[in-house]
Amino acid sequence: MTAALIGKSVSRVDGRLKVTGAATYAAEFEVPNLAHAAVVRSIVANGRIASIDTAEAERAPGVIAVVTHSNALRLAYQPHKGLPDAAVGERLHVLQDDRVTHQGQPIALVVAETLEQAVYAAEVVRVTYRHEAASTDMESVDPVLPTGKPAEWEIRRGEPDSAFEQAEFRVDQTYVIPRENHNPIEMFATIASWQGDSLTLWDKTQWVHNVAEEIAAVFGIAAENVRVISPFVGGAFGSALRCWPHVTLAALGARVAGRPVKLVLSRREMYYGVGYRPHTVQRAALGASRDGQLQAIRHEGHQETSTYEEFTEALLSATRFLHSCPNVHTRHRIAPMNVHTPTYMRAPGEASGMYALESAMDELAVALNMDPVELRLRNEPDRDEFKDLPFSSRSTRECYRAAAERFGWAQRNAAPRSMRDGRSLIGWGMASATYPMNYAPASAMARLLPDGTAEVMSAASDMGPGTWTSMTQVAADTLGLPIERVKFTLGDTRLPRAPIHGGSMTMASVGSAVQAACRKARDDALARAGANEIEEAMKRLGQVIEATADVAPGDETKRFSMHAFGAVFVEVAVDPDLGETRVRRMVGAYGAGRVVNPKIARSQCIGGMIGGIGMALMEHSVVDPRNGRVTNANLAEYAVPVHADAPPVMDVIFVDEHDPHVNPLGVKGLGEIALVGVAPAIANAIFHATGKRVRELPITPDKLL
Ligand code: MOS
Repeated sequence: MTAALIGKSVSRVDGRLKVTGAATYAAEFEVPNLAHAAVVRSIVANGRIASIDTAEAERAPGVIAVVTHSNALRLAYQPHKGLPDAAVGERLHVLQDDRVTHQGQPIALVVAETLEQAVYAAEVVRVTYRHEAASTDMESVDPVLPTGKPAEWEIRRGEPDSAFEQAEFRVDQTYVIPRENHNPIEMFATIASWQGDSLTLWDKTQWVHNVAEEIAAVFGIAAENVRVISPFVGGAFGSALRCWPHVTLAALGARVAGRPVKLVLSRREMYYGVGYRPHTVQRAALGASRDGQLQAIRHEGHQETSTYEEFTEALLSATRFLHSCPNVHTRHRIAPMNVHTPTYMRAPGEASGMYALESAMDELAVALNMDPVELRLRNEPDRDEFKDLPFSSRSTRECYRAAAERFGWAQRNAAPRSMRDGRSLIGWGMASATYPMNYAPASAMARLLPDGTAEVMSAASDMGPGTWTSMTQVAADTLGLPIERVKFTLGDTRLPRAPIHGGSMTMASVGSAVQAACRKARDDALARAGANEIEEAMKRLGQVIEATADVAPGDETKRFSMHAFGAVFVEVAVDPDLGETRVRRMVGAYGAGRVVNPKIARSQCIGGMIGGIGMALMEHSVVDPRNGRVTNANLAEYAVPVHADAPPVMDVIFVDEHDPHVNPLGVKGLGEIALVGVAPAIANAIFHATGKRVRELPITPDKLL
């Protein structure tokens, strides 16, 4: 037997391919006879297309086709429900009529021999509009409860209003998060190639089967006739969970041109062509007794959405169970506007909602003159008070203790502006983190070959967290083979189905399926060969042994509340003259069940923590309220953290946690929890440094001067 691989810090199996440029991303596949597409986008936020003159574009060099609503194929747009519950309504129909509902909406498509020719021709398409008044400013829109399942949008337990009024200590504040855009390194790209009624798509996606089914529904063809290939994804953070309109445009272009077509979104187009984290306004009111016992929590929030879809996320979920409180009211509303539909962005909902909740907890600790860790410990619940279920496991206490100890929290002088380093004001802040354990049905196949190697596969994605590697580990560990003998394959609809590569569920779901398939294949091979060791068995059998396994959650969600928990501690230095904040140290501790690969898990966590620096201090898609235009739709003006912004000290602690209830592998998922809590921890540290409470992200220097 080989040594156990689960729990080992194995380096990325695809690392070499990536650093040598050998990994093939969606735009990089070599497809013969390829034509290139460019999109013409609306420059108004609401109205109708009055005229569209394509004559000059059609005459331009290299142009194969110009498609507008007046000559486009009528597409079937059959219903297809992709992401669970994220957006209710009807998706954007491209080039089907003259209606414009938002800035950047696709209104024409040019297909040409080269990319340059397509871009040039797109620029000479002449469009006039009949403008209508557009609402692009959330302050001017009355928020409404989302339609459908109203019980989910407003939840009350106890008597939150009277309990708040009677509480001796109260905090009641409004917290604002601006729109943020995902900025993965890899731009969205699709290559579409028709063979009769069958379509092959090379696409950047977090869910190949969803793309196949969505495009099949849009074109009114069978999903089996659409193959989606997506082996590598250069970051996505949730932006590739949905199948966006450009995939339809690529397929439409290929159909019209009668040739394979490649469509790559520019960085600017990524601010209009895919979703974003919505602008969110929250009011959080906490009431507590003198000893710090929470008496009331009232938390409401509203978020921007489009006129054609209601996007919602888990904004207020954590508020209902994170801290113990008998009287709780949450209300989640949306503000439909002339914008394109927002979407999930890393820790969607939790990262936003916890910014308000954990900032308010810090304000309450200040009001009580109590240590913020102590305040949380005093409100640690014994069970999920919202679902009225026990937690399958909950390691918050261990996380607070471990992170506080590593950080040196005991040395903190609680008074604001009390700690300095030269000219800099030093602040220490902390916040809690939580993210649900998500486990969805998944399938995998294992093939054992006579040469003693194995091929294991599932149609999962790997947008960077290390799925290739962790799945290879789980497979090799289960089969009892050295890791070099196992080849894992993902990212193709021809492979057994996997759920969305999001919601931090891949390790739990696909990992459990891989483990089950490998167990089946191993047991089968050993039994048939009468051997007790796989290499020996395969040699003896001299034939391929194949096994497929499907896994799915049972009734454990009815018996347990299942979440990962954590705590993050931050040190900032604020320049009192320039208002500039530098994050100097971060310590995150997480109780996330079993950790399959500590090296990659740490990498995930520091990625999330650095993402949190962006959320706290930098990221802001600035929307011009006159027309919905994003004025900084580029990486020069939309600031994201770079290496120089990452603190020299980043500690990640995984507290020991064995949870037999969550899923066969015992993992809770790590992708998203590390972003949760970072923005409030930084905001709290800035308050501690400066005495100034900033309640609107990002905390840029102007807000501190
Ligand atoms: Mo994540 S926002 O579920 O990709």
